[in-house]
Amino acid sequence: METNRRLWLKKIGIGVAGIGFTNFNSFTSPLVTENLNTSFENDASLIFLRSNENPYGPSPLARKSFIDNANISNRYNWDVATQLISDLSKKNSVKDENILLGAGSTEILDLVAKFVSIGKGNYVIADPSYDYWTFTLDNLGLTKNKVPLTTDKKINLQAMLEAVNQDTKLVYICNPNNPTGTICEREALVEFVAKIPQNTIVLIDEAYLEFTKQQSLSNMVNDQKNIIIAKTFSKIYGLAGARVGYAIANKEIIDNLSNLQSNTNNSVSVVSKLAAIASLKDDKFVSNCYSLNEDVRQYTISELKKLNCECISSTTNFIYFSLSNYKKDYFKQLEDNTIQGGRIYEEQGKWTRITVGKMDEMKKFIKAIQ
Ligand SMILES: Cc1ncc(COP(=O)(O)O)c(C=O)c1O
Repeated sequence: METNRRLWLKKIGIGVAGIGFTNFNSFTSPLVTENLNTSFENDASLIFLRSNENPYGPSPLARKSFIDNANISNRYNWDVATQLISDLSKKNSVKDENILLGAGSTEILDLVAKFVSIGKGNYVIADPSYDYWTFTLDNLGLTKNKVPLTTDKKINLQAMLEAVNQDTKLVYICNPNNPTGTICEREALVEFVAKIPQNTIVLIDEAYLEFTKQQSLSNMVNDQKNIIIAKTFSKIYGLAGARVGYAIANKEIIDNLSNLQSNTNNSVSVVSKLAAIASLKDDKFVSNCYSLNEDVRQYTISELKKLNCECISSTTNFIYFSLSNYKKDYFKQLEDNTIQGGRIYEEQGKWTRITVGKMDEMKKFIKAIQ
């Protein structure tokens, strides 16, 4: 697998030596180019529980849209961006001027990183949290200020607040948090944001919010000028490979981020944008995915507990659990059963993360580690 990864990177023109190994996992596809003809659905031997993708998606409406619209891929089309922005602004109760499209929320995070790194300073991030994108901040010269989670693996908002100083350019809150699956309650977050100085950007990453019942902070962006919400179609909408994400922020911030994006709102392909538009119409698919995820997650947690693995209560499509009391070689068990799982995030307590797949996949996962 390691060789395949290298091959794949070579093919896309990135040598392993050119990037940090920690960044490597963040954008490595589980499939290599020569395997691309093998569909996920047909290759029963591989189980992908590593990247928090939606095992059920894309939605039927999105699949139809891909097929129907493949033949217009020969044309540039700027109007589709306008349509998607309009749909997203309605969905999030903001204006069109408050939305910026990106190739996944990764591009949005990257634009924010570049924007806040104009001038020196620091950024504040929980530890562990979703930090694959932050090497841009590090490489552009910002100092990383990591704030430990609480003992129950929640983001410690009070400690994050205390970590902010006059040189802080950015505070990043992943809500719910990846890899722990914990959530900051909306009220607490609203209070937190209000206490952050206006010249510090607060980036709220809502990649997994659709797996919860909690409302987005999107309606704050017009009053609170320093807040940016990052959203994605990669998770509950099942469009990880299609690369569609967006930012919601005050117009001034959106304009600043747009200035750093050479083809504003058009780094996402027309076909992907049309699939995103179709996905937004498929509420039934989203609610089915939500319910299936709840059931399968509950099953997986109860089985992990039977194996003496402490589990953090999750609001997402992944579970953070401890291998401290697990007797076998967990990663070997996964490998032997062709299951792509996670890694250790915290040595102390041997905390790892597993994506919630379909029920049959999780049964195989449990059987593999029993
Ligand atoms: C918290 C979080 N934010 C952002 C992303 C990036 O997702 P994408 O670029 O596919 O939108 C991920 C992907 O796993 C994630 O977990």
